[in-house]
Amino acid sequence: MKKIASAIIASLLVISALAACDKDESAADKKTLVMATSADYPPFEYVDTANSDEIVGFDVDLAKALGKKLGYKIKVEDKDFSGLITALKTKQADLVLAGMTPTPKRKKNVDFSDVYYKANDMIVTKKDSNIKSVEDLKGGKIGVQLGSIQEDAAKELQKNTAFDIETRNRIPELVQDVQNGRFQAAIIEDTVAQGFLKKHQELQGFNIKTSDDEAGSAIAFPKNSDLTPKFNKALNEMKDSGELDKLIIKWFGADSK
Ligand code: ARG
Repeated sequence: MKKIASAIIASLLVISALAACDKDESAADKKTLVMATSADYPPFEYVDTANSDEIVGFDVDLAKALGKKLGYKIKVEDKDFSGLITALKTKQADLVLAGMTPTPKRKKNVDFSDVYYKANDMIVTKKDSNIKSVEDLKGGKIGVQLGSIQEDAAKELQKNTAFDIETRNRIPELVQDVQNGRFQAAIIEDTVAQGFLKKHQELQGFNIKTSDDEAGSAIAFPKNSDLTPKFNKALNEMKDSGELDKLIIKWFGADSK
């Protein structure tokens, strides 16, 4: 009897020692989280090439603020937008902040936080293009970012207006192809489009209503990640305290609220 008891105690000790070891290791792992993004999206995420090669922007500040509250460091990695969901699924990234909209299609593959910022779509054209409405896109070639909800929006518009759709990996490529006339227009989120319009005087834009009524941004996580509820709680704290509004004003300007 004694022998059995001490054998049980011994094995319990071994098991708890192993468990402790395990815990320590994962705690160390979790101190730095990899945030994947597509750094082609000012003011959400971009490289301010004049100043450094670091990725900066609203999403980066938000992730770091949330990480700070929860005890995580955030390491930012740049990828094409269309590869971000895969990065989460293959555990190359712990979270994605990329102005990403929580669509039903994406929700099949990843989990999302609540929405932290809302936006609308804009048609960007050249000022001398005579394109003033969606109908004017007829017969033209329209550019959208690969894998974005703007690609879906373009397909939706195509049902009523005949035009061609072409995709690009990066937003500046879309803008460039509007400038050089390869595209008659591009569909880009308004907050991002505004920045490009300011920079390129020959371009103009107008907002469109898309069928997608929740064109907002949310944080994406691998399915069933224990980070999702933690980050969501911290996000809602930032909403309540006004910290989120401060970041919005910092990156989108005082009238963006
Ligand atoms: N909100 C849009 C979407 O979810 C576009 C986001 C593009 N983001 C970027 N970093 N390029 O599809």
